[in-house]
Amino acid sequence: MYGTPRPRMSLAGVVAVAAIAVAMLALARLPANSAEALSPAEQRGLVLLRTHCASCHAIDKVSESPLKIAPAFRMLHLRYPVEDLQEPLAEGIITGHPTMPEFRFDPGQVSDVIAYLKSLER
Ligand code: HEC
Repeated sequence: MYGTPRPRMSLAGVVAVAAIAVAMLALARLPANSAEALSPAEQRGLVLLRTHCASCHAIDKVSESPLKIAPAFRMLHLRYPVEDLQEPLAEGIITGHPTMPEFRFDPGQVSDVIAYLKSLER
C-alpha cells in the first residue's frame, strides 16, 4: 500500500519563501540606532572620543556638551571639514581652548577618530 503522497512545495513556493526570508533578514539588519551601523574604524574612534573627550564634548547626535562652551562634535563639520582635524589630532589640539587638555593620537587613532566624526554627518 502506498501512503497518501505528501504535498511537496513547488519550486516557486520555495523561491517565494526564500525571498521572504531574505527580505526579513535585510529588515532585521537595519540599524535600530546609529551606533549599530558604525564600521569597526568608526567604533574605535567612538571609544577614543568617549574616553578622552566626552567629559566636555557631546560625542553623539543628540546630547548637549557636558561643558557648555565645548562644541558638540556633530557641529564641527559645519565649521570646517573634519579631515582638517587630522593634523591637530596628531600634533596636539591646543588651539583656542586652554581648559582643554592636550591630546596626541597616533596615525591609526587619528583616522579612526576622523572616521567617527564623519559618521556624525550621516
Ligand atoms: C576638559 C574639557 C575638554 C576636553 C576633555 C576636551 N575638550 Fe575639546 N574643547 C573644550 C572647550 C572648552 C572647547 C571650546 C574652546 C573654544 O571655543 O575656544 C573645545 C573645543 C574643541 C574643538 C573645536 C576647536 C575649534 O577651534 O574649532 C575641537 C575640534 C575639540 N575641542 C576636540 C577635542 C577632542 C578631539 C577631545 C578629546 C581628544 C577634546 N576636545 C577634549 C574642552 C574640552
